[in-house]
Amino acid sequence: MTASLYDPLRMGDIALANRIVMAPLTRNRAGAGQVPTQLMTEYYRQRANPETGAGLIVTEASQISPMGQGYLDTPGIYSPEQVAGWKRVTDAVHGEGGKIVIQLWHVGRISHVSLLPGGAQPVSSTNRPANGKTFIAGGFAPVSAPRALRTDEIPGLIADYRRAAGLAMQAGFDGVELHAANGYLIEQFLRDSINDRSDDYGGSVENRTRLLAEVLQAITAEIGGGRTGVRLSPITPSNDAGQDSDAQATYGRALERVAPLGLAYVHVVEGATGGPRDLSAQGVAPFDYAALRAHHRGAWMVNNAYDRPMAEAAVHNGTADLVAFGKLFIANPDLGRRLRQGAPLNPLDTATLYGGDAHGYTDYPALVD
Ligand SMILES: Cc1cc2nc3c(=O)[nH]c(=O)nc-3n(C[C@H](O)[C@H](O)[C@H](O)COP(=O)(O)O)c2cc1C
Repeated sequence: MTASLYDPLRMGDIALANRIVMAPLTRNRAGAGQVPTQLMTEYYRQRANPETGAGLIVTEASQISPMGQGYLDTPGIYSPEQVAGWKRVTDAVHGEGGKIVIQLWHVGRISHVSLLPGGAQPVSSTNRPANGKTFIAGGFAPVSAPRALRTDEIPGLIADYRRAAGLAMQAGFDGVELHAANGYLIEQFLRDSINDRSDDYGGSVENRTRLLAEVLQAITAEIGGGRTGVRLSPITPSNDAGQDSDAQATYGRALERVAPLGLAYVHVVEGATGGPRDLSAQGVAPFDYAALRAHHRGAWMVNNAYDRPMAEAAVHNGTADLVAFGKLFIANPDLGRRLRQGAPLNPLDTATLYGGDAHGYTDYPALVD
């Protein structure tokens, strides 16, 4: 039997009304103490009803510790105040009949000393800085030079992820998504284009996939595999990630290694995040996503530049169980309804993506009956 984008799906321990997912979207509107605000609650509530919005919301990336922050005004999931703020969000989403997981984030070297406790240096798999910018008080600035984590610091890092997953449950989330994509910390370990370590966490594929595996072991020990997902982006060049010398082997082994954990879902960004799906013009070999999927038994979520026909076809022909939409969900709070009806879509205002107030955030119009 073929499935439809509009059909329910049981994903691990989470029952979804349909396969339309709101992708994780950083909007830089957290309050003091990196606490989710009432305005954020309203933004998620608007997109939460599965009849008009998403079957599942993945929150904006949320740092697991003060050292995990890389941009101004992103929310955290490490303090009691943040848990209380997120509880307002999850209550609002559940009140609409929706489901919501939180994306757990550590940016690694994509950060700036002005954002970190006591002006600390960012940490990474490497001492080598990324060629890129971040957004700090006062505007865009080049990222700061990182220092490589010592091997004896890694258990503490893993404990931070585990603690954040436990706090996410206290905050009422249906689950968590580990952010292992887009050139942030976990990807800084996965790829040999960045990871230049000589300890147990660098060198071979086995060593480079170790941090991902240990973090997922810790998270699933805390909350269960059925409430845990992971986001990967095997060939994105985002945040100066470069390209792994054998992405197919590295990412394949990563999923093979975590298969015993029984993850609820894997979320794959196909191609360059927010850019071309096909990178052959940039000299990057096509990635075989079906081969990657062969290592995972749970639900398969895809993302990157999906529109209505592509998304309907992906679920119909079985290449995906779920489709995540980013920019379309920013501009269309009632995207689910618009997809179902083939209704026109609101244009995106790119000037209001990162930071600001309700404008370009909670004031996009819904369809009128
Ligand atoms: C404003 C904005 C913020 C984003 N923030 C995140 C994030 O916090 N975590 C993440 O994994 N991806 C993030 N992304 C990437 C999106 O989740 C998604 O992969 C990308 O927009 C491509 O999907 P789309 O074509 O449906 O928009 C962000 C993208 C945009 C435009």
